[in-house]
Formats: sequence, C-alpha cells, structure tokens
Amino acid sequence: MKKVAVYPGSFDPITYGHLDIIKRGLTIFDEIIVAVARNSQKNALFSTEERVDLILEVMKGEERVTVDTFSGLLIDYVASRRAHVIIRGLRAISDFEYEFQIAQMNSTIGREIETLFMMTSLQYGYLSSSIVKEVCSLNGDIDRFVPPEVKLALKRKYGLT
Ligand SMILES: Nc1ncnc2c1ncn2[C@@H]1O[C@H](COP(=O)(O)OP(=O)(O)OP(=O)(O)O)[C@@H](O)[C@H]1O
Ligand SMILES: [Mg+2]
Repeated sequence: MKKVAVYPGSFDPITYGHLDIIKRGLTIFDEIIVAVARNSQKNALFSTEERVDLILEVMKGEERVTVDTFSGLLIDYVASRRAHVIIRGLRAISDFEYEFQIAQMNSTIGREIETLFMMTSLQYGYLSSSIVKEVCSLNGDIDRFVPPEVKLALKRKYGLT
C-alpha cells in the first residue's frame, strides 16, 4: 500500500523551511499532500489560491507531491484523503507546546491518525513565513529563505518591484 502523508499549514508563503520538510518527508513517504488551510489566518498576505499556485510552481516536476486545500477539522480531511499520517515541523521550543496540544487532541478524536514531527534543519531553525514577510516588507534580502518565484510574488505584494 502506498504510504501517504498530509503536510498541513498556512504556507503564507512557502519557504525553504517548508521545502526542506517536504524533501525529507519524501524519503519516508511515497506521496505527500501539502494541504493549505483555508481561512485559518484572516490576515493572510496571500489568498489561498495564490498560496496554492506558489507551491505548485515551486514543486513542479515532483510527481510525488500534490497540493490541496482544506477547511474544517484536519483529521477529517486526512481521513477523507485516506491518509494516516500528519507531518509537522518543529523548530524552537516555542513550536512544541502548541504542536503537542494539537497532536494530543488529534490523536484523541482521530485515533487511527498519527502525527510525525520532523526537527527543523539547522540552517532553517529560525525561519518562518512571518519573519520572511517582515524582512521583505522592510526591503531586506530574502534569497536564502524562499525560492525566486516566491521572492518575486512577495516583492509584488509589497510594491517593491
Ligand atoms: N523552518 C522550518 N523548519 C521546520 N518546520 C517548519 C519550518 N517552517 C515551518 N515549518 C513547519 O511547517 C508547518 C506549517 O507551518 P506554517 O504554515 O505555520 O509556516 P510558518 O513558517 O510557521 O508560518 P507562520 O509564521 O505564518 O506561522 C508547521 O508544522 C511548521 O512547524
Ligand atoms: Mg507557524
């Protein structure tokens, strides 16, 4: 049976930190569904469709990755895709408390679904979509944090091109 995992998030926008988790996840799973949460963040910079398009652009050629959106309970979505594993990334200790709470809740209400945590790679330990947006909005260099397509989209959003 194909091993499928769901990697959920807001991806507003996708960064090299996310891409690193996906790449490493593909060494464990046959297929990864990158699931963009709809309306999880009301103050998102990119619309859900824009976020999906950026992921598709960055992931093109990678047949084992699919991109989708979801709303409502994550475990319901995961079950609907016939997957059993949720992948999450862990950076600082600050991620842990929140992630632990969600994972506990998910395993209580969705017993057959497992959450797999992957430690951030050393060079991405401080990287988040929020920090990239902040740096970009202040006209800082974001080459090391996001792929060129994402950089361009960010610059456009902030009227910097
Ligand atoms: N640099 C990174 N290293 C490891 N995991 C990461 C990294 N950035 C994000 N993730 C993980 O990716 C998943 C989706 O995260 P999310 O979409 O919230 O991105 P984010 O970078 O945390 O954005 P935001 O700043 O908006 O919270 C989460 O499990 C998160 O922990
Ligand atoms: Mg986050």
